[in-house]
Formats: sequence, C-alpha cells, structure tokens
Amino acid sequence: MPTVTRFAVSLEPDLLDKFDRLRQRQNYASRSEAVRDLIRDHLVEQGWDDKRHAMGTVTLVYDHHVRDLSDKLTSIQHDHHELILSTMHVHLDHDNCLEVLVVKGKGERIRSLADHLISTKGVKHGKLTITTAGKEIV
Ligand code: NI
Repeated sequence: MPTVTRFAVSLEPDLLDKFDRLRQRQNYASRSEAVRDLIRDHLVEQGWDDKRHAMGTVTLVYDHHVRDLSDKLTSIQHDHHELILSTMHVHLDHDNCLEVLVVKGKGERIRSLADHLISTKGVKHGKLTITTAGKEIV
C-alpha cells in the first residue's frame, strides 16, 4: 500500500461549504478522496500535449435528417480511421443520434479530428474529452 502524506489546506468557509455540498452530491465518502480526484483530473488535463499520444472520446449529437450529414460524418471518420478505436451510435429519438468515438493518437491529430466532426454543419453538440491510459496516474 502506498504511503500518504497529509497536508493542511486553508479555505474560505463559503468555498468549503460549496465543495462539501458538491462532494456529497457526487457521493465522495471523504474530502480526501474528492481532492485526490480533483488533482488527478487537473494532472490529466494539464498533461494534454499536442505532440504526445493521447486517448479520449468524441461525443456528437446530431439530427440524421440533415441532408448528407450522416454521410459526411462517416466520411470524415473513414479519413481518420487509424485514430478511431471504436464507435457507438445510439438513436436517441426519431430525429436525433448520439455518437461516441473512442480515439487514440497524437494529441494534435485527435484535436483536429474532433474539431472537424464537431464543426460539421448540423452537429448540435460535440465535445472532445481527453483522458489518460492510466499508467502515469496514481
Ligand atoms: Ni441514429
């Protein structure tokens, strides 16, 4: 079991109160666990580098009735097939589709693919989330 180091943090009562409410809503058993996850999230976020390899997901919501949109999105994905490990398509309702792509590759190429997909006319919402392959984070 890894050893842990305790350290004190000074916070304004208001900020601590907001943090505690959020932590309880998110079901964290302790402040320590919530702070650990915040630090991990920040480290992953800051470790994001265009020149290094990264993993992530691209989430897209779009109306498949928009002319040629499904074909355009599929075509963009085929042009970058080496970056895409897996895709999931969910038919949300009669009109809307949700697509989630799991991506892996050089940071700048992942960002470029995500920008291309998200900016395609007719995409209602899109988001790139970068995560870690897990090895560098404790
Ligand atoms: Ni669909």
